[in-house]
Amino acid sequence: MQPSNAIPAPSKPSHTCPVWLGHLLASPLRRLFENPANLILPLFEPGAQVLELGPALGFFTLPVAQALGRDGRLVCVDVQDGMLRRLRRRLEKRGLAARTELRQCTQDDLGLADLEGRCDLVLALHVVHETAAPAETIRALARCLKAGGRLLLIEPPGHCSPEVFQSEVDAALAAGLQRKPHPRAEGRKNLVLWTKPV
Ligand SMILES: C[S@@+](CC[C@H](N)C(=O)[O-])C[C@H]1O[C@@H](n2cnc3c(N)ncnc32)[C@H](O)[C@@H]1O
Repeated sequence: MQPSNAIPAPSKPSHTCPVWLGHLLASPLRRLFENPANLILPLFEPGAQVLELGPALGFFTLPVAQALGRDGRLVCVDVQDGMLRRLRRRLEKRGLAARTELRQCTQDDLGLADLEGRCDLVLALHVVHETAAPAETIRALARCLKAGGRLLLIEPPGHCSPEVFQSEVDAALAAGLQRKPHPRAEGRKNLVLWTKPV
């Protein structure tokens, strides 16, 4: 029995994207203004090792897994089991589960230690501002890059304040990453493509 003054821990922080919204984010209509074919697919070759933080139901995950081919590997890390269970079903339905690994993390520990220095591409799309410590998240993602690897950071201007976005940019610079023009989306607000120098 809990002591009478105990405050029950919330099942998830209130700023985490709910699963119902994950369904909306996975709508194919979203391609009209945010197309993975332009934003993500030009950034890697088949056979690459990719990490995606916060995939939700896989609006970006599915086309990335498809384009990676049989030799590619995609690790998806999300804090919500409900997102990962639905994403797994969607990957299985398309025959893409064998090339993907889904991991549940916690707000305190992204569990990325084994990926350090191993990724060709890290995707942080509309997620870092939801994490408990955005600057620390950027540092953890930067550590996962190989030399020459790239990190794509996109934040939604309506949900991520300019101050938080700036703290993420500052953390990437402090981690030694360099800005690189995005081949198809340079100039888009709150989008930065980073590279780890060779
Ligand atoms: C707004 S949704 C974006 C989903 C997807 N990237 C997209 O653009 O469609 C944010 C996702 O990040 C996940 N998330 C929130 N905090 C996280 C954390 N600390 N670590 C990993 N994933 C997290 C949420 O569960 C949700 O799936």
